[in-house]
Amino acid sequence: MTPRAAQSDTARRRLRDAAVRVLLTNWTGGSTVPSASLYPHQWSWDSAFVAIGLRHLSPRRAQRELETLFGAQWDDGRVPHIVFNAAIPLDAYFPSPDFWRSGAAGRAAGAPRGIETSGLVQPPVHAMAAWLVHESDPETSARRGFLRRLYPRLTAWHDYLATHRDLAGHGLAGVVHPWEPGMDNSPCWDGPLSRIDPAPASSFRRADLAHGAAADRPTDLDYGRYVRLAAGYRDRAYRDGGAPHPFAVEDPGFNALYIVSEHALASIAEALGKDPLPHRARARALTDALVERLWEPEAGMFLSRDLRAGALIAERSVSGLLPLLVPELPQALVEALLHTVTGEHFGLGSTTALVPSYDLRGLAFDSSRYWRGPAWFNVNWAIERGLRQYGAVRLADALRQAVLASGGASGFAEYVDPRTGRARGMTDFSWTAAAVLDLLATAPEGTP
Ligand code: SER
Repeated sequence: MTPRAAQSDTARRRLRDAAVRVLLTNWTGGSTVPSASLYPHQWSWDSAFVAIGLRHLSPRRAQRELETLFGAQWDDGRVPHIVFNAAIPLDAYFPSPDFWRSGAAGRAAGAPRGIETSGLVQPPVHAMAAWLVHESDPETSARRGFLRRLYPRLTAWHDYLATHRDLAGHGLAGVVHPWEPGMDNSPCWDGPLSRIDPAPASSFRRADLAHGAAADRPTDLDYGRYVRLAAGYRDRAYRDGGAPHPFAVEDPGFNALYIVSEHALASIAEALGKDPLPHRARARALTDALVERLWEPEAGMFLSRDLRAGALIAERSVSGLLPLLVPELPQALVEALLHTVTGEHFGLGSTTALVPSYDLRGLAFDSSRYWRGPAWFNVNWAIERGLRQYGAVRLADALRQAVLASGGASGFAEYVDPRTGRARGMTDFSWTAAAVLDLLATAPEGTP
């Protein structure tokens, strides 16, 4: 081994140890908190990304992470976006279980008894995560019946999206709250949210500002609207039918992850000796609908569709690049997406080393505030995979290096300033550590 290789080997080992430490510290016995202070419960899409990293540390623990989450699945198939830990004081996080009241308000929709959850959902990354977890140790997975037990739950989850959440009747899943696509305060939601009357500031108390810097977090005005929407959904018993949702959006990132997970369900079905074809057919139909409804040729990317206004939202979010993860996209669209990710709006490889969450040239761009500009590690993990899938290997290699370098240097930050790499939000963030662990473990042959 050359001295240089030995040095980078040591650096990699140190980085791995540091990432492992974050995941061990944030493990609570059955699942992992995203952040011990800001998010002290279990979050749905966080757990899926965490499982993808955990599989390199303990495949069994990674399986457990997903099993714990699906233990809180509702009878209608929805996977709640938060599963509350009863041992944590109510005032540690807002909105707390006494806001959601899942046991009472969610009874008709089949909320579980004995566990408190929210009633919203988050992006369906779970089948993809389950398949990756299985692949990391197929023997333990088979011995524990991991896929056999999880498959019916995963299909029920996707069936919930296909039936209850096909809000426009064209196949794509709709989201009914800015927390559902996971990118809470993306400028994409400014238009749809402007129609929502905010709940008065005196009617609730934010817990997030006790931990995060106010400049890194959503504004009070946005919070008032989040609260109004969540309370409205709760007060209609978390039903999706009937009166139209005041906030209803088709998001390309949410749907891209849904499609990738539907492909994963096909692989899972095959491994279990079941018929994969219905999953492949749904994945194909969803891909067609994604292109048909959300592709914007002039932007060279996918945009979100505001179902209340009946129009695409003219804002560029990284969500519209996530379809790079979707297999079998038309070649012309792939070329346009590659052009856009490296162009002036996202700057990958020139003005930025990590893809920002929002348009660098957008009027609402803010390098610090949550989903209005900073770069996130789970998203960059997904884009790295997408670039690699479509043969942009050098770009993918550089992005992989940037995630590793910035993940470690920022103390596993929740998000970073996309131009300077400065840590924003919390540090010791679980999915950042998980993304680092996964990219370390899956480095392609011959890369530094
Ligand atoms: N991300 C939201 C929060 O900040 C809810 O999921 O609490």
